[in-house]
Amino acid sequence: MDTAATPRKIEHQQTDRGYVPVYATGVVEQPWADYSRTDHQVWDTLFKRQCEMLPGRACQEFLDGVAKFGLGSGGIPRFADINRVLTRATGWELVAVEGLLPDEVFFDHLAHRRFPVSWWIRKPDQLDYLSEPDLFHDLFGHVPLLLNPVFADYMQAYGRGGMKAHAVGPEALMNLTRLYWYTVEFGLIHTPQGMRIYGAGIVSSKGESTYSLDSDAPNRIGFGLERVMNTRYRIDTYQQTYFVIDSFEQLFEATTPDFTPIYARLCGATAHAAAEVLDDTDRVYHHGSHEGFATDADT
Ligand code: PHE
Ligand code: FE
Repeated sequence: MDTAATPRKIEHQQTDRGYVPVYATGVVEQPWADYSRTDHQVWDTLFKRQCEMLPGRACQEFLDGVAKFGLGSGGIPRFADINRVLTRATGWELVAVEGLLPDEVFFDHLAHRRFPVSWWIRKPDQLDYLSEPDLFHDLFGHVPLLLNPVFADYMQAYGRGGMKAHAVGPEALMNLTRLYWYTVEFGLIHTPQGMRIYGAGIVSSKGESTYSLDSDAPNRIGFGLERVMNTRYRIDTYQQTYFVIDSFEQLFEATTPDFTPIYARLCGATAHAAAEVLDDTDRVYHHGSHEGFATDADT
């Protein structure tokens, strides 16, 4: 039998993002022996495609991480093999999960240096797009940078910050989610060699790994903590704005202060649209042409 393995969905539930599947929240054993030939081929195809795209586009720390884990040795990697390298390097550990987790469960994992990875991989007709994170996005996109000590600490601090924001309330949580979106998922970094990608949502996407750097349409704006926390984003299209850090140290240091006063300030403030450029205060690397931008509401 050569049908792809599928995750264990618990039920469907109505949320503010529509009618979505809810997954079991527990940690599972990666069912490595159950992957089909097709599953392994999907990994190999995606891996090869991205490795052709990313030299000169992804930051060196990411490329080094991919090489160090040996993610291209053929077929879906075994999490146990990854963990032997990862735990020794930065004390992080992958855990296999069924899919997207409730915020508190996710934050608790990060706060304890556990990174949840969906154990299942997308189908061959979903190579370019799928609406929820799968193994390729989670593992290839997120895990290489966990070998970088500063980024590794940032991710743990984010998890702890998440618990705090959760206690403050839904608006604080939204502000913090935007920070994750515009850094961990869609961040760019300005290096001496030029603009590079570090966001997992970009490095795991063939289309966005060229679009984010080369397209005239989106804005590229220097990272500012409150600016990012107050900016809406797109979940269904490429980003309209990318925020650019100078270094992982800058990101870590900017996010170290207590966010409580920031949450208070932003509470009730009008958020910026995803495409907006603030001419007076933004450090603009590129003012996008906004060509082809969707004009419906951002998230
Ligand atoms: N400093 C943040 C707080 O006080 C925590 C945090 C750190 C959040 C790093 C995100 C990233 O809430
Ligand atoms: Fe992700």
